Amino acid sequence: MMTAKKSLTAAEIQAWLLSNLAETLQVALDQVDTEQPLDTYGLDSTQAMVIVTKAEKMLGFKIAPTLLWHYPTIASLSQRLAEESQELASDVEETFTVKNVAPILDLSAEAVLDPNIRPASGHFVFTSEPKNVFITGGTGFLGAFLIYELLQQTNADIYCLVRGAHPEEGKQKLKKNLQSYGLWNEIFRPRLIPVIGDLSQPLLGISKDTFEMLAANLDSIYHSAATLNYVYPYSALKTPNVLGTQEVLRLACLFKVKPVHYVSSVAVFESPFYAGKIVKEDDNFEHWQGIFLGYSQTKWVAEKLVTIARDRGLPVTIHRPPLIAGDSQTGACNTDDFINLVIKGCIQMGYFPDVDYRLDASPVDYVSKSIVYLSKQEESLGKAFHLQHPAPVPFSDLLAWMDSLGFAIQTIPYQEWQTKLINDISSAENPLYTLRPFLLESWSEEQITIPDLYLQSRRPIINCEATLNALAGSGIACPPMDTQLFMTYSTYLLQNGFLNVA
Ligand SMILES: NC(=O)c1ccc[n+]([C@@H]2O[C@H](COP(=O)([O-])OP(=O)(O)OC[C@H]3O[C@@H](n4cnc5c(N)ncnc54)[C@H](OP(=O)(O)O)[C@@H]3O)[C@@H](O)[C@H]2O)c1
Repeated sequence: MMTAKKSLTAAEIQAWLLSNLAETLQVALDQVDTEQPLDTYGLDSTQAMVIVTKAEKMLGFKIAPTLLWHYPTIASLSQRLAEESQELASDVEETFTVKNVAPILDLSAEAVLDPNIRPASGHFVFTSEPKNVFITGGTGFLGAFLIYELLQQTNADIYCLVRGAHPEEGKQKLKKNLQSYGLWNEIFRPRLIPVIGDLSQPLLGISKDTFEMLAANLDSIYHSAATLNYVYPYSALKTPNVLGTQEVLRLACLFKVKPVHYVSSVAVFESPFYAGKIVKEDDNFEHWQGIFLGYSQTKWVAEKLVTIARDRGLPVTIHRPPLIAGDSQTGACNTDDFINLVIKGCIQMGYFPDVDYRLDASPVDYVSKSIVYLSKQEESLGKAFHLQHPAPVPFSDLLAWMDSLGFAIQTIPYQEWQTKLINDISSAENPLYTLRPFLLESWSEEQITIPDLYLQSRRPIINCEATLNALAGSGIACPPMDTQLFMTYSTYLLQNGFLNVA
């Protein structure tokens, strides 16, 4: 049990935080600005956890770790902690947790598209044979497969937005990324053109001349980039995910109308309003209240911006994948993604929580093939697509498969698993350690944890009939989640050393 100590003032807490942050980041005190958002210092989740743990000891009460992100500057965080410290000091016998009282955010008020973003006047002619396409997120997981499909399904040159110091570095990053998923071929080189920039900057961080040159010459745009982080709040993700999407729409509308093929997520239906309801591709997604993850909130707002642009006349297609799993043929996947890290962490821990989840995941090759194919059909314009797995399986099937492969799997009740997570996982050697803030924090009016919020009964039923109809005749089918697929995935994870059988 933690007992509250004597109350501290905001100034005292601020001085403490300042020196600890400077020490963690190994910079001088005067290099830390108390009004500067903490995420600009590049603090990672583990470093944040270390500071939170020390602060708890100093203050004498437990802090929801992501409070750091909801009160993003040292000044605002100190103020918030001082308020709690004063309230709690009067009653030292209780166990205290500073709840995650994120400021209420009206997402519908965030969905405002710059009024200057309107499709250029003039006649738009659809082509299924684009000559010049632009893609964001080409150094990411899905982006690698989208580039690969664009190389296969079109003859276009592919301009890729890449963060980097110069084009040569951009080229290397793209090549390395495709190589890492077993997709690279030297013949691709002349068709891949890096464009150095940054989604978080106005005009995507591209010079005005280059932005205008692209605007005048591109035929279509694939927007897959986003910062995927389940711990950061909306405020820390808004710039790349929301404002970045606005800049992509600006590029699409300038000089010449270019269709935007936008990678959204089924997370736009995360409001409890949709729990247990069937949602179809063309259903509206007005309800945002109760979407708690900052990442999901940015995806909701960003998709709204895309629909506003659509309503102003921009041709768009919207693609909502569920969790994206590995390549169904090779098993190649992003080992840093949430589901892989949780599985690895649970194997290391020796326990899985007994939860009612469905494995809502689609292989990346199904997602990428579908997006590129659908983007080439004129009748897709203006529509949304659900790249949901048509026959998802329960999480328990995954555990049964793992068991049969020799992984020591023991399931325990969720509360017990949570207690083990708190008491037994104390170092970053287990990937669950850095996910603890995400897994343990209490959210919503009910103050329940994120894994509770994602229980099957609280999730929407994503219908993908219209998408399957649109794919009919294309030869693209979602591979079934069966023993064979699971063997492919586990073989890949074992061969590259991510998982070990004890
Ligand atoms: N993965 C999933 O399970 C899943 C599920 C549903 C929807 N989605 C959506 O699918 C899309 C792709 O996801 P993913 O799994 O491929 O993610 P990922 O592997 O994390 O890749 C993200 C990409 O976005 C780029 N990016 C991030 N911030 C940027 C910035 N400020 N400027 C320029 N580029 C930036 C990254 O570039 P760097 O290499 O420079 O970091 C990387 O290329 C996202 O829009 C995501 O929301 C993903």
